[in-house]
Amino acid sequence: MKTIKLLIAAFMLFTGQVIAAEQERWYSEDQVTQGEQLFGQNCASCHGQNAESTPNWKQTDADGNYPPPPLNGTAHTWHHDLKLLRRTIREGGAKIGGQMPGFEGSLSAAEIDSVIAFFQSKWPDEIYQRWSGRFASSDLPSLNDIVVASNRAITKLLRQRIGNAKIDDVTETSVEDVWQVQMGNRYVYLLDGGKYALMGDLVNLEDGRNLTEQSRRVAAVETISEFDDADLVIFDATGESRAVLNVFTDTSCPYCQKLHSEIDKLREAGITVRYFPYARGGSRGPGYQHLRSVWCAEDRNQAMTDAKNQLYDDLPPGDCTAAALVDRGYLAGNKIGISGTPALFKSNGEKIEGYRPYQELIPQILQ
Ligand code: HEC
Repeated sequence: MKTIKLLIAAFMLFTGQVIAAEQERWYSEDQVTQGEQLFGQNCASCHGQNAESTPNWKQTDADGNYPPPPLNGTAHTWHHDLKLLRRTIREGGAKIGGQMPGFEGSLSAAEIDSVIAFFQSKWPDEIYQRWSGRFASSDLPSLNDIVVASNRAITKLLRQRIGNAKIDDVTETSVEDVWQVQMGNRYVYLLDGGKYALMGDLVNLEDGRNLTEQSRRVAAVETISEFDDADLVIFDATGESRAVLNVFTDTSCPYCQKLHSEIDKLREAGITVRYFPYARGGSRGPGYQHLRSVWCAEDRNQAMTDAKNQLYDDLPPGDCTAAALVDRGYLAGNKIGISGTPALFKSNGEKIEGYRPYQELIPQILQ
């Protein structure tokens, strides 16, 4: 009976009908309870009692192996659909050089589902929704026969092939046997089990969607959402807010200054501008110190405007704790491939390159 219910739930998940029931999860409380026990017995020794793993799970050990990743929603596990999660647990990582043992003989299919239910119960709603949205949408068909246990093992394989480029993420694509590897803002596709790598954008010619661009946007949204409003300098829309524009800015950059001189036009059009600090050239860049001062100011908005108008005398010293946000902004910007300022991102992650006069910019943001 349980299995039947589960099958129905899984079916709904993959046909997209479940989207309406937002907080509903596919598993029952009973499964979580059973899963907790099984997890404690079979998985916790590697993945941690609450699936949290170790803090340094991103670092390889002396043999170049990765520690077991967290399964509690803080790592990549939500990039895998249910089928692939089941398969990973059944088959382990050995097939592609991973370390994880398979549980085919020791756990039944229902028990494996309970274990998944347990670690998914640790996922925050936001992550769970992303997961279910990702696999419920018709955009990503279920991943039929990809015989790969885990993306971390693929990462290792790739390292052996292409050396030490920093790999941020490896995900399945909707194309059979084609894997996407993210290295910063660059994307590479692996074909034929990692024998070939292809660089370029993956486009679905049936509907014209650029899947690589979609990934870039997801990455941008994720990076941007790591910052709270309190971390930023925000110029609210004057009336009702109709759109949000995220701007990586450098007080010393002429086009940033120009954009800022038009900020009231954006605000009047219902656009809320969220400024992220991005000092071109990093800590040696010309805007670095002034950005720190702005972030330390009691009235950051005024200080931002002063700095953009090159009125530096009124700025406070940039020696407070909030000044560390200037370094964070720089790292975040690099992660999403900013090459110059201002770098503009709409709330869906779409990037607008450089300065545009407000008459051009406003319709682009509101569309
Ligand atoms: C001996 C240590 C060990 C045990 C026990 C173990 N794992 Fe793993 N697990 C790993 C390692 C290491 C990886 C990374 C991939 C690899 O090397 O195979 C991994 C990867 C995974 C992944 C893929 C995660 C991702 O984000 O790609 C899942 C899911 C998973 N394990 C679930 C489980 C479950 C559920 C159990 C218990 C039934 C379990 N593991 C038991 C070591 C272990």
